[in-house]
Amino acid sequence: MRLSVIGCGYLGAVHAAAMTELGHDVVGVDVDPAKVAALAEGRAPFHEPGLPELLERGVASGRLRFTTDVAEAAEARVHFLAVGTPQRPDGDGADLRFVDAAVEAIAPHLAPGSLLVGKSTVPVGTAARIAARLAEVAPDASLAWNPEFLREGLAVRDTLEPDRIVYGVPDPTDVRVESDVALLDEVYATPLATGTPRLVADYATAELVKVAANSFLATKISFINAMAEIAEATGADVTLLADAIGLDARIGRKFLNAGIGFGGGCLPKDIRAFAARAEELGVGVAVEFLRDIDAINLRRRERATSIVAEALGDRLAGAKIAVLGVAFKPDSDDIRDSPALDVSLRLRELGARVVATDPAAIPNARQRYPELEYADDADDAIRDAEAIVLVTEWAQYRALDPGRTSALASGRLIVDGRNVLDPVAWRAAGWTYRGMGRP
Ligand code: UDX
Repeated sequence: MRLSVIGCGYLGAVHAAAMTELGHDVVGVDVDPAKVAALAEGRAPFHEPGLPELLERGVASGRLRFTTDVAEAAEARVHFLAVGTPQRPDGDGADLRFVDAAVEAIAPHLAPGSLLVGKSTVPVGTAARIAARLAEVAPDASLAWNPEFLREGLAVRDTLEPDRIVYGVPDPTDVRVESDVALLDEVYATPLATGTPRLVADYATAELVKVAANSFLATKISFINAMAEIAEATGADVTLLADAIGLDARIGRKFLNAGIGFGGGCLPKDIRAFAARAEELGVGVAVEFLRDIDAINLRRRERATSIVAEALGDRLAGAKIAVLGVAFKPDSDDIRDSPALDVSLRLRELGARVVATDPAAIPNARQRYPELEYADDADDAIRDAEAIVLVTEWAQYRALDPGRTSALASGRLIVDGRNVLDPVAWRAAGWTYRGMGRP
């Protein structure tokens, strides 16, 4: 099927490439000429495992194109809206500027019978508003909302083999939505054929599925981080606590890793936007707890910083501190709301000489925070450092060898902001090991 994808960022570029992989003929549209140029050559403009291979294959097949000209999307039958919905600069709500601009841009090119499909994460009520706008400017096209649940670093797999597929339509009980549902079923024929659950909902439910899922995940992480605070006051070990409660199948061990908390382009802004939207709707009290979830999360960044500050005391000012990681999570170069970068900036503010490193995210970090010092690899960052702070659990940092590290560093303090190192091995090698919520 001929498809278009409007917006080729972390979500759209992967979606476009994955839809090509599923056999469709796809044109990706973005306003950024540099991004389009890279994608058109089959190069990924950001770090995402597996994406370069998909792009190369797609572009070489002739079924995947990228353009800055939205008119080139006109022949598509289904148009996916995959633009960003960042936090508003003046508040907690979502900034819908890019969504609205994309709708206005594509509307004149929507052929009769075509389907516009929102994938962006939006405040509940947005789809109904866009549908009303389409009724004015493109009355023969229809709108569905099909939230995306991909995780960065696993985006290709999550898109090709999703856990579930949700379609939001004006009224799931109305026979008139059947043709749109059939069209989407054709788009997702491959994952549906393997038994992927598919749910058809009204717009509001489909929009809420996404923010509710992200709120739940954020709550799970902040819950265990709250337990880490209690563990710190009692000498308990939050890692063992998570293992033990996680064995209860109703709780589950996933997303119970205590540390410096969640960041990225989704979880933090989605819970804030949800709380703000609920307030607008007069039901703010129902999700007031999300404010606590946010506060617990931000406290962990402070805590990691204070562990270093307490351990080094007056030696902190001017001390070289190696910070391992700047991306908000491993296997990504995304630094949006990165807890890792936050810790670096806080330590620098306290007077330390922070040298940060990351396998993928340094170019992004350098552009955004030129004031920080960066090292190309962990060895350079660690050499002669007074302390090491692990803040993004890339595989190579998890595998750090205490013996080898001892030969490089001058100090013997390691702060494990993600609780991924073995305290016994580090202590045996003469290090002061400090985890998050671990004795
Ligand atoms: C998230 C959702 O998982 C995904 O379904 C949605 O589509 C977009 O938002 P993503 O932002 O890629 O995906 O990252 P995720 O893997 O969820 O991690 C988010 C943050 O939580 C990271 O900073 C990670 O380090 C942190 N995290 C995760 C923890 O601190 N502890 C955990 O146990 C799990």
